Amino acid sequence: MRVGVLTGGGDCPGLNAVIRAIVRKGTQEYGNEFIGFRDGWRGPLEGAVRPLDIPAVRGILPRGGTILGSSRTNPFKVDDGVRRVKETLAEFEVDALVAIGGEDTLGVAAKLWAEHDVRCVGVPKTIDNDLNATDYTFGFDTAVNIATEAIDRLHTTAESHMRVLVVEVMGRHAGWIALHAGLAGGANVILIPEQRFDVDQVCEWVRTRFRTHYAPIVVVAEGAMPKEGELIVKEDELDAFGHVRLSGVGDWLAKEIQKRTGKEARTSVLGHIQRGGTPSAFDRWLATRFGLHAIEAVNEGDFGQMVALRGTDIVRVPLSEATAKLKTVDPKLYAEASVFFG
Ligand code: F6P
Repeated sequence: MRVGVLTGGGDCPGLNAVIRAIVRKGTQEYGNEFIGFRDGWRGPLEGAVRPLDIPAVRGILPRGGTILGSSRTNPFKVDDGVRRVKETLAEFEVDALVAIGGEDTLGVAAKLWAEHDVRCVGVPKTIDNDLNATDYTFGFDTAVNIATEAIDRLHTTAESHMRVLVVEVMGRHAGWIALHAGLAGGANVILIPEQRFDVDQVCEWVRTRFRTHYAPIVVVAEGAMPKEGELIVKEDELDAFGHVRLSGVGDWLAKEIQKRTGKEARTSVLGHIQRGGTPSAFDRWLATRFGLHAIEAVNEGDFGQMVALRGTDIVRVPLSEATAKLKTVDPKLYAEASVFFG
């Protein structure tokens, strides 16, 4: 069998570990050959490929990013996109595709399989951890560790100056990074996209923290929204999947806190630092197991499936089910954290 591999969407620590596991097991156990498609769906769309064999994946387990490159290309938004993808697959004699991505990349794989008979298997990745049907996506643990370390560092400087420090973390629709890093880092306020926040309440928590002679750390997900306002965006322009570029809520909130409490408030936006660098041991473990199970599904002819983590087992779930809705933070989990607010 000749198998194409692509990585799409925002990059994420662990992508290379998946690619390595797919190629190692596919070559050694099944005698598969591989083609690497460059830059997500741009590869099959434009015929952009690179060789992918065991020497090509040596040494990449601990490397962040993706050796295949990534993009937010959507073949369904390009004239003749599906025909072009199918032509490339035929030209390179590709029997099946492994798509490694988040809701958007896997949404394309689901549709290509369901409506156009393109034989796809999906692997879930995203630092946001918002893919339904899997307990965790790889990349999330690394992002949480990076954000937690940042919060630890911000505590000491916040307390030296008795300032409010607002930390803006990623999380477009789901507050998983904010919640986990905020709890692990001992934040005094955690704000997530799933629940609109009240700025007056945030200011009250800030005042309480100062009253006990500590400086407050406010963790806010980029997609969090105030009760009395709208989503704060960096740019209005939409990408090929209809998303705007977020960021800005941290700065906005710091200004409001300073205005309303009279306390100096500053913001740190962690941005792409959360996605860069070497994956944590957990993410290497999860990404490797996803890769091993994805190539097994391909060789068993079980297409239209995504590998997923359930407890400690790797299972298969239909791509259509996995991409039907996002996994957001349960209000009960968020309520659990609120004992530390203020
Ligand atoms: O989906 C992962 C993610 O990191 C989101 O948290 C964030 O909103 C988005 O990607 C940023 O994407 P880009 O790097 O393309 O601006």
